[in-house]
Amino acid sequence: MNNKFHFKCRTCGYKIDGFKEWFGNNQKCPKCEDNKIYTIYNTPKENINELINTKEKPKSLWHYFDFLPLEHKENIITDGEGVAPIERWNFFEDYAKRKYGLDLEIFINRNDTSFATGTFKDKGGALAASVLKEHGVKEYVVPSTGNTASAFAHYLAKAGISCSIFVPENALQDSEAHIGTYGQKLFRVKGDYAYAKNVATDYANKYGVLITGGNLDPLRLEAKKTQVFEMLRVTGKIPDVYIQAISGGTGPFAVEKAFIDFEGTGLLGKLPRFLLSQGDKCAPMAHAWEKAKANNFPEGYEKEYPIYENPEVLIPTIATGNPGMYPLMAPLVRKSGGDIFPVKEELAVDLARLVAYEHVIKIGPASAAGVLGLFEGLKRGLINNGETVFINMGESANRAYSFMQETAYTTENISSVDDCERFDRSKYKEMIWEPFEKY
Ligand SMILES: Cc1ncc(COP(=O)(O)O)c(C=O)c1O
Ligand SMILES: [Zn+2]
Repeated sequence: MNNKFHFKCRTCGYKIDGFKEWFGNNQKCPKCEDNKIYTIYNTPKENINELINTKEKPKSLWHYFDFLPLEHKENIITDGEGVAPIERWNFFEDYAKRKYGLDLEIFINRNDTSFATGTFKDKGGALAASVLKEHGVKEYVVPSTGNTASAFAHYLAKAGISCSIFVPENALQDSEAHIGTYGQKLFRVKGDYAYAKNVATDYANKYGVLITGGNLDPLRLEAKKTQVFEMLRVTGKIPDVYIQAISGGTGPFAVEKAFIDFEGTGLLGKLPRFLLSQGDKCAPMAHAWEKAKANNFPEGYEKEYPIYENPEVLIPTIATGNPGMYPLMAPLVRKSGGDIFPVKEELAVDLARLVAYEHVIKIGPASAAGVLGLFEGLKRGLINNGETVFINMGESANRAYSFMQETAYTTENISSVDDCERFDRSKYKEMIWEPFEKY
């Protein structure tokens, strides 16, 4: 029994006492067997104001401990995750003005500086490791396209927990190095992500080991919802538009969860419009959405979606071919007044170059897909004059070396100084912007 929080089954409303009961029941509702639950806190809601209005920069996600499902602070596992920079990028604002005549405020949640893996999955890894430690869990199973795997490998290793990871065949090599050096187990599964999930589930059942609960797992949702608190702390407001590349959609579900926590209190304001991108080589949610939208969202539209087996993609990190979360994601996006659309994976390199040229940081391919959502959203007329836009850019390039190499464009092979023209960096500017000026 803990006094801090409990879970409520999303389907039948049954009250579950906490992780002890939840894990003990194999992460299913004891009454109806559903695996979808809400975490409900007894913390007075208005306590969030003090946390948001703090003068000092928090050290980590754990600044929001009172609204996270961990009972005792001594179980915290942390590496300074969850307080990644949120910055205004003027070169994007200038572009929106120049090309579309829009005055926008554009904020980027960078995430790339997060210490453990340089991705926004670090938050979930830290919370999962802490909760598992609190409950004496010694083994855990994680199917993932790469980033969640890396984050969980890192934090669970810190907690002394064995993490068995199942990635699809096409997962990036650099994740493998990251996981392997910590002595966590990597199973590279011959097949796509959906199949890797099946094998991971079989392994969990065979050995009686706990497995991550997917996109609505409270260990991920509760950690990721803190980005809403961070928006308020850093920018002082909830944006009109939230942009992210989605795979299963934990990010937007987590944003929604923060609003559910504070429903009726007026403390957070209005849910942002979700403009969600998917890489065009594996975009089942976007394709389902486009079709439903063209038909005016007929009854039951959210249950109709394509499944793409073994998708051939350039950005495997976000390639979920079987979008099991679509029936929940589509109504959420609709409620928010948002949209789901594909972006060209072939432009990821151009986008990473642009960001590296203008802002001097290196971003990974999944981040590029997220930021391309801004360009697509503008082109489709989905962003209005005067609005504030928040882009949740998920990863650095530090586990995507081949992608990083592709973004280099200045090398010239020479034999002597006679071959060298005098260098001027600004001559690249036009070339860098060209794909986006004509977007
Ligand atoms: C960098 C990056 N962006 C976006 C996503 C998609 O996240 P979500 O779970 O919110 O769909 C992922 C997930 O793997 C990711 O690693
Ligand atoms: Zn239930």
